[in-house]
Amino acid sequence: MSDRYAVIGNPIAHSKSPEIHAAFARQTGQALVYERLLAPLDGFVATVEAFRSAGGRGLNVTVPFKEEAFRYASRRSVRAESAGAVNTLRFDGDEVYGDNTDGVGLVRDLRANHGVTLEGAHILLLGAGGAVRGVVGALLEERPARLVIANRTPGRAEAIAAAFGAAPEACGFDALAGQRFDLIVNGTSASLSGELPALPEALYAKARVAYDMVYGAEPTAFMQRAAALGCPRCLDGLGMLVEQAAESFYVWRGVRPETAPVLAQLRASLRG
Ligand code: ATR
Repeated sequence: MSDRYAVIGNPIAHSKSPEIHAAFARQTGQALVYERLLAPLDGFVATVEAFRSAGGRGLNVTVPFKEEAFRYASRRSVRAESAGAVNTLRFDGDEVYGDNTDGVGLVRDLRANHGVTLEGAHILLLGAGGAVRGVVGALLEERPARLVIANRTPGRAEAIAAAFGAAPEACGFDALAGQRFDLIVNGTSASLSGELPALPEALYAKARVAYDMVYGAEPTAFMQRAAALGCPRCLDGLGMLVEQAAESFYVWRGVRPETAPVLAQLRASLRG
């Protein structure tokens, strides 16, 4: 019988994870099935326990349950501890292992898929929610010259920076005027509602790359803005999605799938 996995969230209908993991399983010859699991907002633990009782071996966890999954895990990886959130659960008998593959997903997409140099780079990270907290540790490991977390509400950026010690700086958007960054990563949820973080406009033309952690069939509002203001390379987060999935697949199965063909397939299906 095939091992069972799923992605749990609310909403979950539009998740691409089943398509990605089915492709990984085909490519690597792993016998597994991967479903979508809709949990009621107040029913994360009950839904997970029912899935485990039915033989489920592991879960990807998405919005809004990553912090609850963190608390549910009985053992956690170092990167999950630093993210304060779990996007990957593996059920090993009575033990629940929690990991977070979002940070490595972003770094691999930037480095391996797009050839962006992170070591020595000046990086600006926008936002201060779970999406940003999940990637700070992995970005710091690449030894950038500077990592600045900027948020509409500066206090939230300061709280994240403080959790990572002295290395990241934190500020509001206005304080960025006159500065220069090689890479701007949008981890705010502004794009999802078609809004934009109110950044000083000159930052875009000075940057080499603007990266949005979300994706869509069309370039996101953030990418369009960055391009219009002179940023030469504007990238979306589809590759991050595929790379974090590949790392979760490795956590479960001990096998690393090739991501390039799956990313190409997903990009084509997104464009319709
Ligand atoms: P997630 O866990 O998905 O990151 P979140 O915790 O709700 O979600 O965080 C959303 C982030 O997007 C926050 O940094 C938020 O800024 P505030 O902390 O000031 O609320 C940011 N955000 C949302 N809409 C925004 C907008 N229109 N402009 C700038 N930042 C925005």
